[in-house]
Amino acid sequence: TAAATVIVAIDGPAGTGKSSTSKAVAAKLGLGYLDTGAQYRAITWWMLTSGVDVEDRAAVAGAADKPAIVSGTDPAAPTITVDGADAAGPIRTQEVTSAVSAVSAVPEVRARITELQRSIALTAERGIVVEGRDIGTTVLPDADLKIFLTASPEARAARRSGELKGKDASDLAATQAALAKRDAADSSRKASPLAKADDAVEVDTTDLTLEQVIECVVTLVEEKRTA
Ligand code: DC
Repeated sequence: TAAATVIVAIDGPAGTGKSSTSKAVAAKLGLGYLDTGAQYRAITWWMLTSGVDVEDRAAVAGAADKPAIVSGTDPAAPTITVDGADAAGPIRTQEVTSAVSAVSAVPEVRARITELQRSIALTAERGIVVEGRDIGTTVLPDADLKIFLTASPEARAARRSGELKGKDASDLAATQAALAKRDAADSSRKASPLAKADDAVEVDTTDLTLEQVIECVVTLVEEKRTA
């Protein structure tokens, strides 16, 4: 019996193709799409522009409920606003990327953002693809399908620096070092770290094209739907 809605959780470290894969799978299957990293980036951007010291856990915790964060879930045109302002550009700056692991490690921030994520996922009309670090383990433990994407550090750094400007060799080494640092922080924090759920399907994307990864996930969703 095909379920009326389907919830897909896609987790993994940075540079594994989570966003590209999740958006394409959602578009192909007519589902919504939620980028939870963008929400953590948005609250981090708000902290930085509001003068909150992001290394001060008590200050971050005390401000966690203040900004209004709204995510648009159309995979063809995902949006994110903070207090009504478009945050899509500013959340991708180096300043935000460097601060986001510290902010997202604060339990009050996670509680607040997790609640937002659950309410979006559970009210998605036809279902949704939710990408992040702790979706299968913590946010949506009852997801219909859980995917954990991995790739070699070299492949992840190459993909990520391809998205950035000026891709010379030193950029690549710097990108790989920055990714490794962020993954270590995200994996070692106490509050719902980056982790593969026991019932997640692990897909190593190192030697796969984006199209192959998308096809693989679409097939897994369709198998679940008709199971
Ligand atoms: O997916 P991304 O690189 O845009 O995520 C940015 C940061 O947000 C990531 O380094 C850790 C945090 N994050 C998180 O803690 N939990 C999630 N579900 C998603 C992201």
